[in-house]
Amino acid sequence: MSQAIVTPNRPRRVPPGPAGHWLWGSLLDFQADPLRAYTEAARQYGDIVRLRSGPWYSYLIAHPDFVKHVLQDNHRNYNKGALIAAYLKPLLGEGLVTSEGDLWLRQRRLMQPAFHKQRLAHFGQTMTDKTLAMLDRWQTYAGSGEPFDVSAEMMRLTLSIVGKTLFSTEVEATSGEVGQAMEVAQAHVNYRTTHPFSLPERFPTPRNRRFRQAKATFDRILLGIIEDRRQSGEDKGDLLGMLLAARDEATGEGMSDEQLRDETVTLFLAGHETTANTLTWTWYLLSQHPEVARRLREELAAVLGGRTPTVAQIPDLKYTTQVIEEAMRLYPPAWVITRGSISQDEIGGYTIPARALISISPYVTHRHPDFWPNPAVFDPDRFTPERAASRPRYAYFPFGGGPRQCIGNNFALMEATLILATVAQAGRLDLAPGHPVTPEPLITLRPRYGMRMRFQH
Ligand code: HEM
Repeated sequence: MSQAIVTPNRPRRVPPGPAGHWLWGSLLDFQADPLRAYTEAARQYGDIVRLRSGPWYSYLIAHPDFVKHVLQDNHRNYNKGALIAAYLKPLLGEGLVTSEGDLWLRQRRLMQPAFHKQRLAHFGQTMTDKTLAMLDRWQTYAGSGEPFDVSAEMMRLTLSIVGKTLFSTEVEATSGEVGQAMEVAQAHVNYRTTHPFSLPERFPTPRNRRFRQAKATFDRILLGIIEDRRQSGEDKGDLLGMLLAARDEATGEGMSDEQLRDETVTLFLAGHETTANTLTWTWYLLSQHPEVARRLREELAAVLGGRTPTVAQIPDLKYTTQVIEEAMRLYPPAWVITRGSISQDEIGGYTIPARALISISPYVTHRHPDFWPNPAVFDPDRFTPERAASRPRYAYFPFGGGPRQCIGNNFALMEATLILATVAQAGRLDLAPGHPVTPEPLITLRPRYGMRMRFQH
């Protein structure tokens, strides 16, 4: 779709949408159950919906072509918007997720090579080593049949992997200072997004003070690691080493310590919770679909024959990869991507005013009935190469798209595939009877009550 030209004499067309309550519009529906409210709005009003929250309007974009327009074709007219600045900047500063314009472009160019598939390949061993260490700990659960929270276990695993691949240090998610600070910071950001009227970080409420302490811990530890590394000059082959060595082609300059701190906190946060949730939902779906679990085990037996998987074997783990892709279709960890419009635009014949809030939800589009027959059904065969090629590019976009597409997508897919293959070869996870499973849409889509499961060989 080409860039929209808005001619002044063309009448404005307002997208349809629910009237909602006379005062607060649809605000309460969206606060109570955002996944349902978004999905129903799209089914009822179509591929572009105008929503009102009190005096503010926002626009939900559901059609793949319209998603492409905002994220890719006319991306210059859209920035990350006010919500990202308000909720994420206090923690992530000017890192890659939150920065805009020239700063973002410079940083993206500096960091892109570190995330190239080939550069990442040597992290594969760290990923499987950490998974095997986790499986050792799970022996006690396997022996006793005691259920445990797989969601917390996945979080701990992916945090320790990102810690090791970023800094070569051992970050223990539960006992380490960084792990604890990360939990406080994550909880704080989640609280702020679900309580839009809470006081911003500059007010010294007890919650804000806890957040500031967590942030101070990050700054102290991360700046300490950066300084040590600069002084020793040692190349440990980790992501930090690559970021320290990166130079701007035009100026020959590297990153400042503060910029490095913002980028490393960003990678820490963006790089573990999303992958942990992908895996948790995958375990849940496998426990509900024994036939899929059986086919997965068959592939693992044929390709790996009981050996620990390597990065070189990933292309042969076709069904394993499809299982992950289908899990991310039904439960995309980044369930909503927000943008702010800069100038007035036109999408699908409707007018989008300047400075409007745009919501694009992989959760909604991934269940769009025009592109996904029986959308609620878990079926990894949707991702055979032939079927995937028959869909528009933006019918499926768990990693976003356009220039701001996830820089860690190869890292995440490699990690999720290696972990799934290693654990599924060792045993099976069954949902603890009666455990409630409800998706909770915070910054990422996680299970509200965790995921209590039993592990057996
Ligand atoms: C399954 C796992 C993951 C999912 C679903 C995911 C999803 C996303 C999405 C949707 C975006 C785009 C947001 C937007 O357009 O506003 C994004 C951006 C980003 N992600 Fe990921 N991500 C994952 C894993 C990772 C990992 C492992 C890393 C790093 C190690 C990472 C680092 C980033 C960064 C730095 C950005 C900002 C890129 C930019 O704006 O230039 N992500 N991610």
